[in-house]
Amino acid sequence: MKRIFLPLAALCAAALMAMPSEMQATADQGKKPLEQVPSMEKFQEVSDIVLDKCMACHSRNYDLPFYAKIPGIRQIIEQDYRDGLRAMDLNQELVGAAKDRPVGEVAVAKMEWVVLNNTMPPAKFTVVHWGSRLTDKDRETILHWVKTTRAAYYATGPAAEKRADEPLQPLPSHLAVDVKKAALGEKLFNDKRLSADGTLACSGCHLYEKAGTDNSRFSEGIRKQFGDINAPTVFNAVFNVRQFWDGRAADLQEQAGGPPLNPIEMGCSGWEEIIARLSADEALTAEAGTIYADGWTAQNITDAIAEYEKTLITPNSRFDKWLSGDDAAITAEEAEGYRLFKQYRCASCHVGRSVGGQSFEYMDLKADYFAERGNPLNSDKGLMGFTGNQDDLHRFKVPNLRNVELTHPYMHDGTVTTLDESVAVMGRYLSGIPVSDGDRRLIVAFLRTLTGEFQGKPLTGTPVER
Ligand code: HEC
Ligand code: HEC
Ligand code: HEC
Repeated sequence: MKRIFLPLAALCAAALMAMPSEMQATADQGKKPLEQVPSMEKFQEVSDIVLDKCMACHSRNYDLPFYAKIPGIRQIIEQDYRDGLRAMDLNQELVGAAKDRPVGEVAVAKMEWVVLNNTMPPAKFTVVHWGSRLTDKDRETILHWVKTTRAAYYATGPAAEKRADEPLQPLPSHLAVDVKKAALGEKLFNDKRLSADGTLACSGCHLYEKAGTDNSRFSEGIRKQFGDINAPTVFNAVFNVRQFWDGRAADLQEQAGGPPLNPIEMGCSGWEEIIARLSADEALTAEAGTIYADGWTAQNITDAIAEYEKTLITPNSRFDKWLSGDDAAITAEEAEGYRLFKQYRCASCHVGRSVGGQSFEYMDLKADYFAERGNPLNSDKGLMGFTGNQDDLHRFKVPNLRNVELTHPYMHDGTVTTLDESVAVMGRYLSGIPVSDGDRRLIVAFLRTLTGEFQGKPLTGTPVER
């Protein structure tokens, strides 16, 4: 992996210049009290602790303490600063975020993990800076805030009260949709006229009988062409913070505009071509006309598809039933697998209703995945491919793990063919904690409880063997 290491001061200066003025103000204010988000009990206390004890390594715009200039210590701190910032920008995701909205679920889960496991600040740092240790009271304050934030903002309707502060939450049974738009969207999702040679619909790569994927490493587009990135499932995609592995589409509507014009997917020359073909269908054109006054437009076609995709959700998995209070819905082994899923940090990225889909994380956070795998792919750039920002190299949207036993093969590069290996890969590269054989088996057993229902029936697909 190539990274450019600038001297720290230059890095901070560059970050300051690149920052929007609103964030610079935060930097200038230093430790002045921050606006409190209503009902975010204890947040002020938490942000005081964080500003005091954590920012040295977790913020782009914070002055390092004086002893950071002492030779020897400087090297330790610089490395910790780079790794700490890669792990999480606390200023951006916690203190800054909370000014106008609740802190994100991922940030909350990560805070919980480091406090429960007592890993922050790192021991070698607290040795030189004793006062930076978290006191029992600090830890209590942070954990209390985690619990209340979750209950206030992230516990979903179907969650049992006793499980309201679990990092994972049940899926809703349905989302409100415009029924007429969704019905039109369903037809378009299955319509091969969206492809240049009339051979491929969206559902040709996102198959209903394969849990919304094609169970292939790379998908086959028109004229036998292949991309270099694995197709994620369309089920529960509505819950993703952005769409695509690199997040280049803001939402489902923007996403739906991609494949039809992508030369190696559906290959159309432009929307006029698609609209001409659809306009020849009188019945469908009349149906579209009753919904959209301006009839067929790219905007309306993608709007209808996105509306339909809101119906592609898979509630009522055994794990959802457990979250809703039914203790017998999962076995003791599976419950132990869930405990391990939290213990191995998995739930600090794969969090919330869709067990992921909310943040972009480095695939080489703890070890160099790309060097060890070899055979570089264009798609390895991840988020950087979209933002152009070097800091985003190798960051990928965390996939949602709902129905994961059916959505094989795994990872953006589709190289991992079993769940057992996925857990091993995650332990090595993302969690930084190797997972033993026995623990992998239990975690996989838990992952299999995430398979849900579509339209009241178990989602169809072929479960992965291991
Ligand atoms: C001396 C620098 C330093 C200080 C001070 C520090 N951290 Fe960290 N932090 C790191 C490093 C290095 C990592 C990445 C390695 C790791 O996760 O152990 C990290 C990782 C993290 C993570 C991500 C863990 C995950 O599961 O993904 C969180 C959250 C975090 N720190 C919170 C804190 C909090 C809260 C404090 C203050 C109480 C703090 N840190 C103080 C260096 C620091
Ligand atoms: C040739 C196969 C193919 C076709 C046809 C296709 N897709 Fe995809 N789809 C993919 C691949 C591959 C990706 C991942 C691409 C990436 O992230 O860069 C993807 C990503 C997506 C995502 C993002 C999911 C996520 O978790 O980020 C959604 C939603 C989606 N497709 C919906 C659609 C819709 C709607 C259509 C029809 C308009 C469609 N797809 C047509 C292969 C296909
Ligand atoms: C720091 C965040 C982070 C942690 C911790 C983490 N993951 Fe992941 N997980 C990701 C990202 C990002 C990917 C996609 C990586 C890629 O394809 O490049 C992923 C991919 C996966 C996949 C493949 C899903 C698919 O559809 O391709 C599985 C399964 C998985 N993780 C399970 C786990 C388990 C089990 C753990 C704990 C041992 C874990 N993850 C820990 C971020 C994380």
